[in-house]
Amino acid sequence: MTQHLSTTGENTDKDIIQHDLVRHSFYKIKSENKLDEFIESFYHNLLLNNPELSYLFVDKKMEDLGKKLKTALVTIIQNRVKLNKLEVLIKPLGCRHIGYGVKPEYYSIFGDTLISTLRDYLKDDWSPEIRRAWFDTYNQIVSLMLQGVEEENSSNKITKLF
Ligand code: HEM
Repeated sequence: MTQHLSTTGENTDKDIIQHDLVRHSFYKIKSENKLDEFIESFYHNLLLNNPELSYLFVDKKMEDLGKKLKTALVTIIQNRVKLNKLEVLIKPLGCRHIGYGVKPEYYSIFGDTLISTLRDYLKDDWSPEIRRAWFDTYNQIVSLMLQGVEEENSSNKITKLF
């Protein structure tokens, strides 16, 4: 969870290769019309293996939440090469998750479940490189979400000084 995006906003060759791996593997699931099923299975696995997180999802319409997560993933995967655009979307998403009661330690549980559900769906197409590409991508997104929270906290501290 310590990987950071480059401060210049430039993508390295590794970023570009990983982006292609993530994009192609994600679109394989999409092209088989299995994206909705994949998201449903992701939440099922998340709550089955981590019942302590259930309280976060009480009274939530999981179908609506699934649609929102799907849209977020599609947007992130399509725009990952445009880091500036991503920041504008992802930092506020991190701040909203504080309001939902999400603790920083939950992010690795969510990420592990995302990766294991991807592995189930990609089957023979799964590889250590694809795992690493998703792992790094997910951690970069989480870094941005948490950075958004930090920035909001420090701007609140400054506001309180005046
Ligand atoms: C990269 C990681 C994540 C992404 C991309 C993501 C994406 C989203 C999106 C798009 C929404 C819809 C609401 C909004 O846009 O604010 C949402 C809501 C929610 N997320 Fe996440 N999420 C992530 C991580 C997590 C984690 C780690 C948890 C907790 C285990 C979590 C729990 C929730 C809950 C409880 C809501 C419902 C909010 C409500 O409707 O009141 N999310 N998430």
